[in-house]
Amino acid sequence: MNKSIGIFITLLLAPPVLAQETSVVDSLHNLSAGGPGEVRAAVEEQVCIFCHTPHHAAPIVPLWNRAMPLDAYTPYTSRALDAEPGQPTGASKMCLSCHDGTIALGAVLSRPNPIVMRGGITTMPQGRSNLGTDLSDDHPISFRYTSTLAGKDLHLRQPSSLPAELRLDSNQELQCTTCHNPHSNALGSFLVMHNENSNLCRACHAIDSTDVAGHSECNACHSPHTAPSGPYLLRGINITNACMTCHDGTTPNAPNINPDLHKLSVHDTDREIDPADPLPFDVTCSDCHEPHTMRHGAASAPQVPLNFGQVSGVTLSGGDIPTAQFEYEVCFKCHADQSALPPTITRQVTTDNLRLKFDSTAVSYHPVASPGRNSDVPSLLPGWTTASVIYCNDCHNSDTGSKSGGGGPDGVHGSNQQPLLIKQYSMLDYTSESAAKYALCYSCHDRNSILGNESFEEHRKHIVEERTACSTCHDAHGVSSQGSARNNSNLINFDLSIVSPDPSTNRLEFIDDGRFAGQCFLRCHGENHNPERYGR
Ligand code: HEC
Ligand code: HEC
Ligand code: HEC
Ligand code: HEC
Ligand code: HEC
Ligand code: HEC
Ligand code: HEC
Ligand code: HEC
Ligand code: HEC
Ligand code: HEC
Ligand code: HEC
Repeated sequence: MNKSIGIFITLLLAPPVLAQETSVVDSLHNLSAGGPGEVRAAVEEQVCIFCHTPHHAAPIVPLWNRAMPLDAYTPYTSRALDAEPGQPTGASKMCLSCHDGTIALGAVLSRPNPIVMRGGITTMPQGRSNLGTDLSDDHPISFRYTSTLAGKDLHLRQPSSLPAELRLDSNQELQCTTCHNPHSNALGSFLVMHNENSNLCRACHAIDSTDVAGHSECNACHSPHTAPSGPYLLRGINITNACMTCHDGTTPNAPNINPDLHKLSVHDTDREIDPADPLPFDVTCSDCHEPHTMRHGAASAPQVPLNFGQVSGVTLSGGDIPTAQFEYEVCFKCHADQSALPPTITRQVTTDNLRLKFDSTAVSYHPVASPGRNSDVPSLLPGWTTASVIYCNDCHNSDTGSKSGGGGPDGVHGSNQQPLLIKQYSMLDYTSESAAKYALCYSCHDRNSILGNESFEEHRKHIVEERTACSTCHDAHGVSSQGSARNNSNLINFDLSIVSPDPSTNRLEFIDDGRFAGQCFLRCHGENHNPERYGR
């Protein structure tokens, strides 16, 4: 007799097994006629026989009494996975001999005919307990959980540090039995340890608890089995969907961002195909909010909002970084070297690489990445100075969020003001000036100062009388080093659909002549400037 079978029989006879026997008896794994569950035999009274027999057993310890399923499973996979789970092995195969739903529950090797189950049940009924042969939506199993694997993934604990309840098999493989004990349902779901506060998950995954209420448990977003997403085991078909199971207005206290996602101008998270698809066109929640590290609380520009967590980014100099420090670095993943969008307005100096427009080498820029170049901006409202640094989201945000003065959630999710602007900003020629039409600019720049010509003495003439939009003369972001300090200071970068070269000189040019002084060569609204001067 083989040594482990000997141990097995000894165990079967030894007193401690009685306790174990009692717990199997009380559980859904007691498939005998006297078992507690719906799924049980018509007359068979033996309990252990559905899985074990001392005689005629399959050549697998401990005296397995069931035919083993074929290797026809689809294992779990994802682009982030380091482990390479193949076909199920060891004890997992034993579980699957019932839980994949292909083999009759009563088909045991020690009987010539399958044990008859009540109610005509043969294989595992459809429902939660039937995992099917597609394991791509279940927690990965049957792979070696070694220190080498843990070394590849900073968020995995060393297998040597696992609590005693979590046991890998003799080949150091993680199996169904690492998390489940088929003999005891004392903790529910046959678990080997409580999963309160996600302790089971956290025993292997070094993922801290977040202070965002509603996210504290792994199962807020994940499901260990039959997860709709497949990869990443999410509770929705994809990341967006998993988040929107709560953020759609159905869950108390979870901000409802559903209305924003269906406005005129959006980050189209519905288009998400695979969370690991190449940036920038496949935008989803976790591109801005790293789900495991996001926090509650306030940060100040340009620091990443705390609810972004440790999300990846691209620096001002173009380097990929795993953890962005500044909000704009998150946006630069998709709006810099890999540009998601062409410029809204075709201008004299043009680039769709926003990194170059906000760079300190740019000739003029809104102070997103560093304080601006102009030390004389008289229109700034209280609260803003020439030393201020602003967020992209000071201009691009929900038009109904708290930051815009509304009651809805904040975020660069969607707005009815294009392109995803927090407030109205008319870019149309012949716009009749009002506080509302340029509300975006007037939230930081005093309307009275602008229309009172405090800097550019022709502001009122152009904006009010000529009905010229701010965007005809000003670039809202910045002018890269392709422009020049002489021609593109003060964010001057003409809209080429409205402004054209002056016909007599063929010049289209702004020239900065010092403080509040300059001249223009151009043609606009039928007027030739060759040049027109102001100031001095
Ligand atoms: C639903 C299936 C199932 C039933 C019913 C079942 N067992 Fe098991 N048992 C298993 C599996 C699977 C293993 C292998 C566990 C492993 O490899 O980690 C096992 C292993 C064992 C072992 C080896 C030691 C151990 O715990 O790994 C003993 C002893 C044992 N079972 C006793 C019993 C007894 C006695 C009964 C009846 C009272 C019983 N089992 C009922 C599935 C079952
Ligand atoms: C002989 C068939 C059989 C084997 C082998 C078997 N199970 Fe089960 N298992 C069942 C049945 C039947 C149920 C109850 C299904 C139901 O009521 O829907 C069940 C239920 C469960 C449940 C759900 C418990 C709950 O509270 O809902 C878990 C978890 C489970 N089994 C895990 C395992 C694991 C892990 C293994 C292998 C170690 C295993 N089973 C082996 C037949 C089996
Ligand atoms: C990494 C841990 C882990 C592994 C590995 C694992 N499970 Fe589970 N399983 C769980 C947890 C946790 C639950 C409870 C889920 C809940 O209550 O939401 C569960 C629940 C179940 C259920 C009940 C149905 C359900 O969806 O809640 C069955 C059946 C089950 N597991 C079978 C298996 C089988 C069979 C295997 C191996 C193929 C396996 N489990 C591998 C953690 C695991
Ligand atoms: C016994 C240790 C262990 C437990 C317990 C455990 N996991 Fe895992 N889990 C792993 C290992 C190891 C991997 C493979 C990681 C890899 O290769 O990148 C993994 C993979 C995963 C993956 C897929 C990762 C990917 O890159 O696609 C998810 C999601 C996951 N676990 C979630 C959970 C959740 C949720 C729980 C709690 C219900 C849990 N795990 C419990 C060890 C465990
Ligand atoms: C707020 C939702 C949310 C919560 C809570 C959450 N996750 Fe995740 N998790 C995700 C999403 C979404 C992904 C998909 C990958 C991505 O884009 O980051 C993911 C990916 C993973 C991965 C695979 C990728 C990786 O980073 O290795 C593992 C493992 C994982 N989660 C485990 C856990 C565990 C364990 C917990 C609990 C401690 C947990 N998660 C809590 C949403 C969540
Ligand atoms: C199970 C429900 C649930 C799921 C799923 C969920 N959330 Fe939440 N989330 C909440 C609740 C509740 C709050 C409010 C917490 C509070 O007020 O402290 C919240 C708050 C937030 C916040 C604001 C945090 C702050 O305090 O600034 C962000 C951002 C967020 N969730 C993003 C996500 C993302 C991204 C996902 C998907 C990866 C997600 N949530 C999935 C329930 C959920
Ligand atoms: C993962 C890539 C990605 C990231 C990160 C990203 N965006 Fe976008 N953004 C897009 C795509 C793609 C579009 C085009 C709209 C769409 O199809 O989703 C877009 C559109 C926009 C628009 C114009 C909307 C319109 O209607 O034309 C603005 C403004 C914008 N993003 C600002 C930001 C800001 C601010 C950030 C940083 C907080 C950011 N984006 C981060 C991919 C991204
Ligand atoms: C001062 C307000 C303001 C700030 C700050 C700002 N934007 Fe914009 N953004 C606009 C306006 C206004 C437009 C419309 C186009 C224009 O006026 O040239 C726009 C257009 C866009 C577009 C559409 C494509 C394009 O280039 O026209 C994207 C994408 C965008 N912004 C992203 C960003 C990102 C990313 C940041 C931060 C790095 C940012 N914006 C900072 C006001 C701002
Ligand atoms: C392009 C980046 C970006 C994407 C993509 C994105 N968010 Fe946000 N989100 C933000 C910003 C910026 C904020 C506001 C941060 C702040 O000011 O604290 C925010 C805030 C939130 C808040 C808190 C709102 C409040 O007022 O408390 C929730 C909830 C949220 N996001 C959920 C989501 C969900 C769910 C998704 C996917 C459907 C998503 N976000 C996609 C950038 C993004
Ligand atoms: C969130 C606040 C904020 C908003 C909104 C805003 N600005 Fe500014 N703006 C500033 C700050 C701060 C400065 C000072 C930068 C400096 O010192 O160079 C500035 C500077 C300027 C300058 C001078 C830049 C230079 O280099 O000389 C112009 C022109 C300007 N803004 C136009 C606009 C227009 C047009 C809008 C509307 C699309 C707008 N701003 C919206 C905060 C804002
Ligand atoms: C016809 C072109 C033109 C239009 C239209 C225009 N501006 Fe200007 N703006 C200028 C010029 C030129 C300067 C530089 C003045 C100087 O310092 O020499 C300037 C300077 C500024 C400044 C920086 C100095 C200050 O006043 O604080 C701000 C801010 C500004 N403009 C905002 C706006 C806003 C807001 C609008 C629309 C409501 C607008 N501008 C429309 C040409 C224009």
